Amino acid sequence: MSTEATAIDFLTIEEAAAELECLAREIARNDELYHGKDRPAISDADYDALKRRNDAIEARFPELIREDSPSRRVGSAPSVTFAQVVHARPMLSLDNTFSQDDVQDFVNSVYRFLGRLPDQSIAFTAEPKIDGLSMSIRYENGRMVSAATRGDGTTGENVTANIRTIKEIPNELPKGAPAVVEVRGEVYMAKSDFIALNRQMEVEGKQTYVNPRNTASGSLRQLDSKITASRKLKFFAYAWGEMSEMPADTQFGMVQVFKNWGFPVNPLMKRLNSVADILAHYDEIGFGRPDLDYDIDGVVYKVDSLELQARLGFRSRSPRWATAHKFPAEQAFTRLQAIDIQVGRTGALTPVARLEPITVGGVVVTNATLHNEDYIKGIGNSGEPLREGRDIRIGDMVIVQRAGDVIPQIVDVVLEKREPNSKPYVFPKICPVCGSHALREVNEKTGKVDAVTRCTGGFICRAQATEHLKHFVSRNAYDIEGLGSKQVDFFFESGDPSLQIRTAPDIFTLEKRQGGSSLTKLENIDGFGKVSVGKLYAAINERRRIALHRFIYALGIRHVGETTAKLLARAYGTYEAFEAAMKDASPMSGDAWNELNAIEGIGEIVARAIVEFYKEARNVEVITRLLAEVTPEAAELPATSGSPVAGKTVVFTGSLEKFTRDEAKARAESLGAKVAGSVSKKTDILVAGPGAGSKLDKARELGIQTMDEDEWLVLIGG
Ligand code: IVH
Repeated sequence: MSTEATAIDFLTIEEAAAELECLAREIARNDELYHGKDRPAISDADYDALKRRNDAIEARFPELIREDSPSRRVGSAPSVTFAQVVHARPMLSLDNTFSQDDVQDFVNSVYRFLGRLPDQSIAFTAEPKIDGLSMSIRYENGRMVSAATRGDGTTGENVTANIRTIKEIPNELPKGAPAVVEVRGEVYMAKSDFIALNRQMEVEGKQTYVNPRNTASGSLRQLDSKITASRKLKFFAYAWGEMSEMPADTQFGMVQVFKNWGFPVNPLMKRLNSVADILAHYDEIGFGRPDLDYDIDGVVYKVDSLELQARLGFRSRSPRWATAHKFPAEQAFTRLQAIDIQVGRTGALTPVARLEPITVGGVVVTNATLHNEDYIKGIGNSGEPLREGRDIRIGDMVIVQRAGDVIPQIVDVVLEKREPNSKPYVFPKICPVCGSHALREVNEKTGKVDAVTRCTGGFICRAQATEHLKHFVSRNAYDIEGLGSKQVDFFFESGDPSLQIRTAPDIFTLEKRQGGSSLTKLENIDGFGKVSVGKLYAAINERRRIALHRFIYALGIRHVGETTAKLLARAYGTYEAFEAAMKDASPMSGDAWNELNAIEGIGEIVARAIVEFYKEARNVEVITRLLAEVTPEAAELPATSGSPVAGKTVVFTGSLEKFTRDEAKARAESLGAKVAGSVSKKTDILVAGPGAGSKLDKARELGIQTMDEDEWLVLIGG
């Protein structure tokens, strides 16, 4: 197992949620700097590392995927200076892969999705990933009519006048080209031109540019095309948007056509048939990278057949038929000065490494996560040795890696440099915040001891109680403006009953308690003042009605992230129905339990956590007080978009002949259906192929509409 994967496997759900929040913010900030201002604060490898970390955490905790997740966005919103162009077909992004295993997984997933056996060979193309900016150039009746940047993927900037100054890009297509053609590719600046330009800037006493990519971007965003013309931008064609007619039926063939039409295409593109050949080409391109006159940051693999590409289709923001295999990021040595313990919302004790500051990939690193007790000891989460079993001690020289990690990782220790009198780190058995016992629970499902040490103090633990409140008011929960982390700490610590906020309902009684003869008026406290107090009350009152999924998410039930909260809201409709069902349910049996588990996306661990949450009298008591103050709104039914299956719950069973299960599921979901794994009262349609068994029987019993694969295809329009 790679260190990277281990690190993610070790994350607790609350660490993951906190980290995803951090990542969303950090990536958005860098997007803005990168796309909006052409002045990045971190290297591209580090940026990729952030995105990759985000994706990996989301892959493990899909219920935590945020509404504002960077994985749901492509690039940044277009800047305002240029007219906007809505792309005829969206300009998508690529999924990233970082290791040989990832590449094998990608190839396997393609075979699996298509239901192919490894001996039915699928050809892939492999070509450098150019580090420039993507461009969509549209030709109508052979003439260039517009050129647009990617923007947010849907809408880009119209930079036609500037693109016309790039000599390498033809203004006209040869006779016989289709009536509508959109050629897509990368505009970039050659390294040599970048160096020459910077030399000139220096001579002129002007500020120099950061890297060729941002210079290319800045050069294109000039309102005066003469400036663009002087910048010697270049282009590689590698993709397309709308085409009134397809001149080839493979990726490779399309690029050859572009070449014949006069577009520059990358000479290192190859068509290959095996993972071994693909990886060999990756190595070859990596080896030659320093000698190329343009920056590349990886190798892109694409399924060659356009027919297969069409079958594979897209995820929300990237095609299933392609991936970018990125070049690796950096590591550095530094000293581990101390290990601090942080206590989170659910009491998890997380060890944090305090490091002698060091730059890794251009960013100063002072902290790294150490995950849990076993990680420090050199034990992986399945008991396997990590770092060949080497433990981590205070005072050690350690190797820090930021590859894919916002919270940097300690990937190894240098034993030769270990102080002779150093001692193994002893993980606390007592919560450093409240002094309660801290334990590693036994997982009921697996019977194994949990990796996470938890404080048993519950609400008496200041850290847990305040983290709980901070979660409650956080952006995707109650989102109360003016009630941030600092204010929560202040209200929590206050000894004055008219000011104190210890649990969520206290937030909503604050104004009332402050009325009358309160001891201390909030507006007289430093940092508040009359206006901000008024605003705070307004912000609180504004949330007395709230969407059901936000309400459920805000409760801070273990394992219930935003996505799970939405699933629950959708399934139960009202809070009353949800609470009644949860109080009714007990683990592993009964209708209420089965219905909860039948919700697609909710597994046993999550279900158990919810049921246990409602078994705790204190939780129910707090919620009852909360409901006296606020009203969760009934959930809206999923929007129907004219598709005959939108909003319907579909179950596939038996063997399908025209599609693989994955393919059928993806099609159904793209039409707005929910695909469930088992039949329940909530099922609308059962698609049964040959060999269907108990699910078909159950569906008949429940009077659910059943159909075979062909009928299903007719229903969804082929
Ligand atoms: S294919 C549907 N091929 O990488 C995706 N993209 O991270 C079509 N890029 O937006 C993109 N070199 O700006 C493709 N040889 C290449 C590329 C390439 C660079 C960029 C492109 C894209 C981004 C995705």
